[in-house]
Amino acid sequence: MQAIEWDKIRAQFPVLHQQVHGKPLVYLDNGASSQMPQSVIDRINNYHSMEHANIHRGVHYLSQTATDEYERTREKVRDLIHARFIEEIIFTTGTTDSINLVADSWGHKNLKEGDEIILSQMEHHANIVPWQLIAQKTGAVIKVIPMDESGVLDLEVYASLLNERTKMVALVHVSNTLGTVNPVLECCKLAKKFNAAVLIDGAQAVPHMPVDIQALNADFYAFSAHKMCGPTGFGVLYGKQELLLEMPPYRGGGDMIDRVSFSGTTFNDLPHKFEAGTPPIAAGIGFGESLNFLDSVGLSNIAAREHELLEYANHELSKIDGLQFIGTSTNKTSVISFLLDNIHPTDAGTIMDKYGVAVRTGHHCTQPIMEYYSIPGTIRASLSFYNNEQDIDALVSAVKETQSFFT
Ligand code: ALA
Repeated sequence: MQAIEWDKIRAQFPVLHQQVHGKPLVYLDNGASSQMPQSVIDRINNYHSMEHANIHRGVHYLSQTATDEYERTREKVRDLIHARFIEEIIFTTGTTDSINLVADSWGHKNLKEGDEIILSQMEHHANIVPWQLIAQKTGAVIKVIPMDESGVLDLEVYASLLNERTKMVALVHVSNTLGTVNPVLECCKLAKKFNAAVLIDGAQAVPHMPVDIQALNADFYAFSAHKMCGPTGFGVLYGKQELLLEMPPYRGGGDMIDRVSFSGTTFNDLPHKFEAGTPPIAAGIGFGESLNFLDSVGLSNIAAREHELLEYANHELSKIDGLQFIGTSTNKTSVISFLLDNIHPTDAGTIMDKYGVAVRTGHHCTQPIMEYYSIPGTIRASLSFYNNEQDIDALVSAVKETQSFFT
């Protein structure tokens, strides 16, 4: 890791420098949504103050410059994940929208009765329900890769599930609940032996590590801006050009058409074919600035710093009696799910909040994981590079206060 002054980076996030319930805020809910640095907030403000106009539609100055800025974000996304073409970067409202787009558009074109879709036990609901919906419509069948107690997928079972009926493998890159980093490269290679398409839910991966989509060879990859120090309501679907070209439009409206007539409509080229209507322009431009920010810190440095924080947190939390980790893969990101003996996660989260510590509690939109462990939910601390050791000390002390409150 380069010598980076992490305190100076943290100082750029205004939201972190406040008190809640009279205590310094300790924000450990980055898996749900990350915070924005001042540069991103300023970029969005300036857009609203001075630059706003609709894009792809006007010959006037503001429309042209807003279009250029918005489209620059697409170039940055292409560079971020090393996609081949700009046309492979579809803007959506987020990971959920991206997966729904593929399930619906690709699914209608490619799935028929008896075809198989492989998911895993640790998928977010956003990578389960869209597939259930399209399976109901097409007669396709869903198969599930199981995991073990530590939260690691069983690749032998995965290999045995694959066959010539497998048309889609949709897998999470990093589990939002367990932090497990799945061996997606190996999973893609195995799927390709059966010519199955692969979609990777990268929402919890792209913000935390470098991703090279060409090396990975996934057909689709989805992620969200708001987990990458960017705004909400904006996300990305990467798709291989050859697949996107064959897929029918998902939503109809302005911008996604070539010619509209009551005798028939033709559609715009990629990527616009999948981008109907006026998009969240400020969010798109703001996201471009968050990519600048992440680039300036460096995703390899981010990965290394977050790993350091994870090790420190594991070390400190494991000293606490009555604390049980959920998700102990040796290959994981800085997501720490745990339980406290005899204390419901929601109660624990409520008490910890009184100490200024923001964690997420509950099933984290992964009820099949909860079913596997037979638990109602977990307490989840998800760390970002702008957290520090003092945040973890505050977490540890809030956990101890919670335990004494309930005893
Ligand atoms: N999927 C997000 C989380 O893990 C919202 O919290």
